[in-house]
Amino acid sequence: MSTIDIKLEGQDNYFVQESFKFIRTNIQFCGADIKTIAITSCNENEGKSTTALYIAKSFAELGKKVLLIDADMRKSVLAGRNFKMNVSAGLSEFLSGQVKDAHSFLHKTTVENLHFILAGVYPPNPAELLSGKNFDSLLNVSRNSFDYVIIDTPPLGAVADAAIIASKCDGTIMVFGSAEINRKEAQEVISRLRLSGTKLLGAIRNNATTKSGSAYGKKAYYKHKSSNVKKVTEEDDESWKKLFPSDNDK
Ligand SMILES: Nc1ncnc2c1ncn2[C@@H]1O[C@H](COP(=O)(O)OP(=O)(O)OP(=O)(O)O)[C@@H](O)[C@H]1O
Ligand SMILES: [Mg+2]
Repeated sequence: MSTIDIKLEGQDNYFVQESFKFIRTNIQFCGADIKTIAITSCNENEGKSTTALYIAKSFAELGKKVLLIDADMRKSVLAGRNFKMNVSAGLSEFLSGQVKDAHSFLHKTTVENLHFILAGVYPPNPAELLSGKNFDSLLNVSRNSFDYVIIDTPPLGAVADAAIIASKCDGTIMVFGSAEINRKEAQEVISRLRLSGTKLLGAIRNNATTKSGSAYGKKAYYKHKSSNVKKVTEEDDESWKKLFPSDNDK
């Protein structure tokens, strides 16, 4: 099993670490049965991959055994951005049956307790692969071997992958990268998420830097400035109440 050297992009400063400790604690209070967690968003560039990595790292630093899976096989950025190594096999090769030996696609990292599965080569049929039994068996084995399995996904608004992944996970976290949430769009994708049957654990407001253009064929709808990760959603947040009325009725 090779070791991946993690280089975090951006500032891994005190405030970021404290934000993710807060998020980590909120996840823990969701229940001990919440082990496999999908991280998704409405659109691209909202901060899913960054959030997934920081949540995984935060749990690992707590001494939890964590597996981070890059399931954005269409546009994997985690490997190139955060890790300095060439890796031959990843999720797509395992799901398509080309690779069976776990040692060839499961990697240790320089963060103690944090393991990683890379996305692999862009396959022609990501949604089909994620719907298959190999992904089910990977999740089952991972659930038994790790305390937490954090899964980075493509945006819900663009492709079906995230809803498929969410349907197989114990819970899902939405990342909102815009300070001003597009309520209608958010409600649409959340309805889609709910149809998948996943448990919506909450949302993270992350004012991520946006980029022009789209790798998913859908133009980003928002424009805003970057700032550090702010907070996990709070019950007293009016935007949250509007977006998730049923959650607030409970
Ligand atoms: N809180 C933040 N502050 C500043 N920059 C951020 C923050 N969160 C993310 N970014 C930056 O914004 C960009 C997009 O983030 P990231 O790749 O995590 O988004 P994503 O939702 O995974 O995108 P995609 O949909 O393309 O997979 C990256 O360059 C990342 O470093
Ligand atoms: Mg991403």
